[in-house]
Amino acid sequence: MKRLLPLLFALGASAQAPDLKQRAAQAARELGQVLMELLGQEMARGGYEGAVRACSETAQIVTEEFAHERGLEIRRVSLKARNPKDQPDEWEAARLREWEKTYRPGQPPEEIFEIVEEDGRRYARYMKPIVVQAMCLGCHGPREKMSEEVRSLLDERYPRDRATGYKAGDLRGAFTVTIRLDGR
Ligand code: HEC
Repeated sequence: MKRLLPLLFALGASAQAPDLKQRAAQAARELGQVLMELLGQEMARGGYEGAVRACSETAQIVTEEFAHERGLEIRRVSLKARNPKDQPDEWEAARLREWEKTYRPGQPPEEIFEIVEEDGRRYARYMKPIVVQAMCLGCHGPREKMSEEVRSLLDERYPRDRATGYKAGDLRGAFTVTIRLDGR
């Protein structure tokens, strides 16, 4: 019986997979909407400068609250992170590098869903690409094209910022969702 348990669990997890994938995809989509709305509001209120300030103070909190509400782990990650908290783990970094290799602007890579085992525990993991749009460039484009104030706010708050120099259509990073499958 002991040996059978993991197998039964694996079968259970794969039967649940479409639901888990849907739950993860929905969370990623909705967090994207929440953050875009926040950005839009702050840009309308304080332009790029005001929005940098607001994003640096709230992006992490909003993301954590959203994750807590949904009972899953969700973050944004990038190979060129602005906030060091957005560094990918090994699994995420490998997928991001894979995407980079095959990426063609205008054809974002497919979302990824996998059931993985890490340290003896099983997780459903999901990743969806984030692509740079024209409106992102005020804070993620070439530094010399940013306003003086945005540049100095970024320098002050993110001394190790790597998230500049992008152009519209570039791959910026991903939403990543982890759902733990065993309750122990
Ligand atoms: C007003 C400035 C501003 C604009 C416009 C902006 N961002 Fe950001 N972005 C930031 C800041 C500041 C952070 C770091 C937030 C933090 O500390 O959690 C960030 C972080 C991110 C991250 C998390 C990974 C990392 O590097 O830390 C992603 C992904 C991202 N932005 C994508 C975008 C995309 C896509 C757009 C356009 C739709 C966009 N951003 C527009 C300021 C901006």
